Amino acid sequence: MIEILLKNKVSSATHTVVITSKFNNELGLPDKVNDYFASELKKADKKSLTYNYIGRYISILIVDQKKEINKLLEQCRRFGATTAQELNVHKAEEICIYNQTKSSSLSLALAEGAALANYEFIKHKPSHKNAHTLKSITIVSSDVLQKEVSELNIVCKATGMARDLVNEPVNILNAEDLANAFKKMGKEAGFTVEIFNKKKITELKMGGLLSVNAGSVDEPTFTVMEYKSKKAKNKHPFVLVGKGVVYDTGGLSLKPTPNSMDSMKCDMAGGAAVGAAMYAIASAKLNVHVIALVPATDNRPGFNAFAPGDIITMMDGSTVEMLNSDAEGRMILADALHYAKRYKPELTIDIATLTGSAMAALGTSGIVGMGTAPAKHKEKLIASSFKVHERIAEFPFWDDFSDLMKSDIADQKNIGGPLAGSITAGKFLEKFTDYPYFHLDIAGPAFINAKDGYRPKGATGVGVRLFFDFFKNQ
Ligand code: BES
Ligand code: ZN
Ligand code: ZN
Repeated sequence: MIEILLKNKVSSATHTVVITSKFNNELGLPDKVNDYFASELKKADKKSLTYNYIGRYISILIVDQKKEINKLLEQCRRFGATTAQELNVHKAEEICIYNQTKSSSLSLALAEGAALANYEFIKHKPSHKNAHTLKSITIVSSDVLQKEVSELNIVCKATGMARDLVNEPVNILNAEDLANAFKKMGKEAGFTVEIFNKKKITELKMGGLLSVNAGSVDEPTFTVMEYKSKKAKNKHPFVLVGKGVVYDTGGLSLKPTPNSMDSMKCDMAGGAAVGAAMYAIASAKLNVHVIALVPATDNRPGFNAFAPGDIITMMDGSTVEMLNSDAEGRMILADALHYAKRYKPELTIDIATLTGSAMAALGTSGIVGMGTAPAKHKEKLIASSFKVHERIAEFPFWDDFSDLMKSDIADQKNIGGPLAGSITAGKFLEKFTDYPYFHLDIAGPAFINAKDGYRPKGATGVGVRLFFDFFKNQ
């Protein structure tokens, strides 16, 4: 694991990144480097440059401080990622960050990008010879606080944990394994973890979760995690709900292969984000009370698999005409959202790789969000989303969309037709809530097919940094 350190000064010269708003000769760089930078920057309208000075890599990033802060932060994260990548090619182990601007958050962002980009999932590839060498990132500053650096280390580590869980395939991580992973995370970070097995889930009459699990040979789990700071500011808990479909074949409404099923180990990315966010929140001892729920199962077309046409009685007693077994996420989330009512939550947020429609709308760039939460919560969550660059685009939550879920023979159908698929899914879920609610569909950004800046190919860990920032600001 890479470590981010904070120092006032460093004695020996090592690989260096300098953030500045204007190039000048006072960066303390060797003359040769200064001359090179001066001439190159004059030649072209470049914003960054790297110089190899006798094996010492010196990079400069010129930022335009008139730009919006969120854009600057993201520019620094992405430059951190590029730098980490270059240094790994050259087998470097450490790097120092200097910042000449007045925004100390830029150094933290650059370190964050480098740390997140340094992630790799190579545990199943023991022959891998080119593992990343970068081990430490030192922020050289007297403005940055140690607390900020500690929190950054925590959230980068937690993001890596979420990515690991998502990247792990279903033959290695089934619903029980996922729950056990949460248990381990709870022990390490200091939050309670209770795992319900199939017997308990049956007693609770979680009909949605049981119906999805019916075609599987593996048992479902329902995990309840809780972190309550003695200094919690909120009277009623925040509740997070994460979709934990450890693999989605589509069930009897089988997804076609190749392509549409290949990455469906990612269908518990919401659950992973929620568990890892709890890890970060508890490790950093944030002053909040948060409960996280993860219903988990695989979705398979085995012998007793739920079949299109089935009528399912959900935990809340309502009925669902199940017409497409590939719309399974809402079936398991519905029971979790109903379960959450007992906490009288201040706010419940669910996060799920729920619909292809969300991906069609925003690609891998953003999260589709919608819900009934009051503006004060929505605004904070969306502000956090732009700050950490896990951006939420809010969709309408108009009641007409509920009409599309009406069934002639049950309370609701589980599909709403070809239009507005991410919204009809959200409106289906809303029926299981009686509290302020916000729904996040991460089908697009949860898992990507090619590296993008500090997001590696595969699992991105989306949601962890968003939740951490949101709760840090409560
Ligand atoms: N897990 C999928 C959604 C998904 C798609 C996640 C692509 C990540 C990438 C979900 O369970 C699903 O299959 N949804 C269906 C719902 C439809 C049948 C109403 C979809 O969106 O096609
Ligand atoms: Zn599905
Ligand atoms: Zn799914």
